[in-house]
Amino acid sequence: MQNYVTLTIDGAPVRASRADSVLDVAIEYGICIPHLCHVPTISDLGACRLCIVEHVQNGRSKVTTSCTLRVQEDMVIRTNTDKIRKLRRNIAELLVAEAPNSRAVQDIALRCGVKQVRYPFRNKTCTLCGRCVRLCAELWGARAIGFVGRGKDRRVDFPFGVRPDFCKECNSCIDLCPMTITPCDGPMKTGEERLCGKCEGQLLMNENFPDFCVWCALGEGFGCARHA
Ligand code: SF4
Ligand code: SF4
Ligand code: FES
Repeated sequence: MQNYVTLTIDGAPVRASRADSVLDVAIEYGICIPHLCHVPTISDLGACRLCIVEHVQNGRSKVTTSCTLRVQEDMVIRTNTDKIRKLRRNIAELLVAEAPNSRAVQDIALRCGVKQVRYPFRNKTCTLCGRCVRLCAELWGARAIGFVGRGKDRRVDFPFGVRPDFCKECNSCIDLCPMTITPCDGPMKTGEERLCGKCEGQLLMNENFPDFCVWCALGEGFGCARHA
């Protein structure tokens, strides 16, 4: 079996390794698909749903997360249709409402064209992106944290709420958490949450080049921007 496939992303033919995800390939080719829960070299969970694309097959398109979609020969992918932009903007808006005190979330929302948030703010301290859980298990082999609870009570915690001896105290779970990057003004007070939008450079870039990377805080910190 050949190790490489050719697919089409936004009308451009691209060549990729069979093991790659559509998101990996898009980033490699400088096509900015917003994403939050994806971490290069770590398995993907499909948690944030920001990276949605249209996968066109037999004349029909299916909306799916690009980080969990493996490339295939002759695949046709659309990353930036009206439908995708609208859905992605709504997902980003909901994310800001959930966790307005993350600059990473704010930046990504800006990139997705969010100008105001129509949903009530919940001011959560976790987006449930699972970056920390996967890093702990896959990079450090520790499995010292995991998801607990269901529905609105779902959260990340140590087993029985106590840091176990096998935690390596590497702090990766904190360093790569989108919640650790606070908006420039610092944490927003309850009742005063908003879309920050104070970064004039990013606002201008997004208005002039709506589909390009805005060098969001996650990209700067975790390397996706180096491809853009
Ligand atoms: S500090 Fe502990 S819980 Fe956090 S990633 Fe490292 S081993 Fe896992
Ligand atoms: S603690 Fe941070 S990295 Fe972990 S799931 Fe929540 S937002 Fe994501
Ligand atoms: S990056 Fe694909 S679902 Fe979050």
